[in-house]
Amino acid sequence: MQFAEPALLEPGLHAPLAALRAATRDHHLRLDRLMDLRLLGDAARYATVLQAFDGFLSAWESTVAAGLPAARQPWLQARSRRHFVARDLQVLGIAASTLPVQLTPIATGAAAWGSLYVMEGSALGGRVIARALAAQGLRPDTGAAYFHGWGESTGPMWREFRQLLEQELATPAAVSLACAGACATFDDFSALLEGALA
Ligand code: HEM
Repeated sequence: MQFAEPALLEPGLHAPLAALRAATRDHHLRLDRLMDLRLLGDAARYATVLQAFDGFLSAWESTVAAGLPAARQPWLQARSRRHFVARDLQVLGIAASTLPVQLTPIATGAAAWGSLYVMEGSALGGRVIARALAAQGLRPDTGAAYFHGWGESTGPMWREFRQLLEQELATPAAVSLACAGACATFDDFSALLEGALA
């Protein structure tokens, strides 16, 4: 799969976060509908969703790492949430994912930051999902560790990430590449999840 043409940005949307939000709004909506919070209480469906995240993260983490310089690797590793999914799979007795994962190549550092926006931002939605799972009796130690993620630290970590986005995406061209990278990451994950849930 190749990157889509970089999105044309609306005037005033060159600030990286605003541009990324605008470019990916519909992609997020599609994924939100696909995951369907109301159905996540079904154990078999929840298992499939966890397997999809596990499979995606195992391929995505190395792909995005290859798009970033050596100096950023420790930061990237420290933000990995893959061990949370591994814990959930173990606690719930679910096999690790064997799903084939198709990822759009990440050709530039800017595209890597756009892709990172999707997975770092997903930790915010994760808090909403974690609350819904808690209402169904799933806590971080009983199978909801991934969506609980870094818990109270999620907000401060997101604020730090937003500052990095401002630094790393300093030109309209970089923002445009990042938007295309973010859309591709949303679409890659949606395709994987759609296939898994089918
Ligand atoms: C049932 C599924 C989902 C729901 C209900 C959901 C809900 C939300 C909510 C409420 C926010 C805003 C949180 C806040 O501002 O504090 C958010 C942000 C976000 N979510 Fe989701 N989400 C879901 C799945 C996902 C997935 C699977 C991904 C990516 C793999 C994702 C990516 C993002 C991103 C990038 C943001 C940040 C938007 C921004 O502030 O710029 N979401 N989500």
